[in-house]
Amino acid sequence: MNEYILPSAKQARFRNTAYQAPIVYDAIKLSDNQKHLGAGFKYHVATYGCQANVRDGEVISGILENMGYTFTNELKDADVIILNTCAIRENAEKKILGTIGYLKSFKRLNPDMIIGLCGCIPQQEQMVKMIIDKYPVVELIFGTHNIPSLPTLLENVVTNKERNVEVFSTLGSIYEDLPSVRQFKHKAFVNIMDGCDKFCTYCIVPYTRGQQRSRRLEDILKEVNFLKNEGYKEITLLGQNVNAYGKDLAEGYTFSDLLEKVSDTGLKRIRFTTSHPWDFDDKMIDIIAKRENLMPFIHLPLQSGNDEILKLMGRRYTAKEYKELFNKIKSKIKDVAISTDIIVGFPNETEEQFSDTLDMVEFCKYDNAYSFIFSSREGTPAATMKDQISIKEKKERLQRLNERLGYYSKLNNKKWEGKIVEVLVDGYSKTNPKIMSGYTPQQKLVNFSYDNAEIGAIIYVEITQGMKNSLNGKQVHLGKEDHE
Ligand code: 5AD
Ligand code: SF4
Repeated sequence: MNEYILPSAKQARFRNTAYQAPIVYDAIKLSDNQKHLGAGFKYHVATYGCQANVRDGEVISGILENMGYTFTNELKDADVIILNTCAIRENAEKKILGTIGYLKSFKRLNPDMIIGLCGCIPQQEQMVKMIIDKYPVVELIFGTHNIPSLPTLLENVVTNKERNVEVFSTLGSIYEDLPSVRQFKHKAFVNIMDGCDKFCTYCIVPYTRGQQRSRRLEDILKEVNFLKNEGYKEITLLGQNVNAYGKDLAEGYTFSDLLEKVSDTGLKRIRFTTSHPWDFDDKMIDIIAKRENLMPFIHLPLQSGNDEILKLMGRRYTAKEYKELFNKIKSKIKDVAISTDIIVGFPNETEEQFSDTLDMVEFCKYDNAYSFIFSSREGTPAATMKDQISIKEKKERLQRLNERLGYYSKLNNKKWEGKIVEVLVDGYSKTNPKIMSGYTPQQKLVNFSYDNAEIGAIIYVEITQGMKNSLNGKQVHLGKEDHE
């Protein structure tokens, strides 16, 4: 009988400031059997949640393809299905548990089908125990730190027909040279770090992804140069908190050093996410303002506009400090677009405290925003706060907030009407082949009619209409498009 390796809530909380994460190069070495295990079989990876999960999903696909599996989009045809999960809010978790229930019927038709679960859900001690107990159909479980073990775990499940579980709650390592099947051929995610040490009181991420670990600058640059040589036009540097990049490295690099070096590669479009307002320094703003290939788009999570709530959230900035930073970014970076995340209904948030958040929205007039109702996550400090506010009240607040956010995103989008913008073409509209879509430097989605555009090219579009969530336009030619 194979022994389960389970996560520990207590260990997941632990941090060691002197920790230097081990770097594992060439992390995936397949045995001969593993190289052929998937021959003639199909896989599907279903990814939920943030971009870090999307990137992990690409690596999991890469590993499975190296093992001989081929991709299928049809769940019922898959021999291996991996659910790459998110635990940020309860409804994300519920959706995934519902999906497992739905997959049971496929497993009845194909009893050899292997259903795997990875990502943030199994990183939680109570959740993994519940899944082991209640969902026998899930035979393969591995955590965010255990992706390199996938070949061995899968091989065990296939050959011994028994469940394998490996979820570490370590501070974490850095894995290099992982295979991957990237989603696109023209834009890519590049992880620059994993984990988070901020411990905002509502957030489960520091527990599910471990201590902050930055990749070495040289390793990131190697990947960026590789992507550039492959013809990629855009990369997004990923981290839970990119502004804190390098703080855990002995070399003393900062995020602005990294931005400068990545910009020097000459890659056309460089983005990054997510920025915590706390670590955002002037040097970063200056370099983004100066360099043309650093895109003028910043995701700057606010969470709340009220100082007491911000304090309870452990955000370590005040509304005034956020505003100052916001103004500095707006005044120094030309045509910058700013988006945000906001949580309503943090335990005991009063109407007055909520109205401070609304005031902040009136002040910042965000280009785009993601808004959420607070969701209690077991093991986080906020989960222990007794809450008196009804869900009805919280839903009403969310609606009022969304109305204002929608008003400003439309207003900002309308400002682009009549202007000519650069668009990196992503693909065709699902409903109309005469329409293509792509993003502007400010990360605005544009749907446009075209006469000569190809996926992956940067072209010019004249904006004809600005709507709440996107822009409409038509392709124009200025004679300097990059495919001409
Ligand atoms: N409840 C609601 N929203 C949350 N977020 C993170 N944790 C929670 C939670 N427990 C939101 C934050 C964060 C975004 C990724 O998800 O706004 O910025
Ligand atoms: Fe969660 Fe805060 Fe870390 Fe973001 S910075 S992942 S909200 S703990």
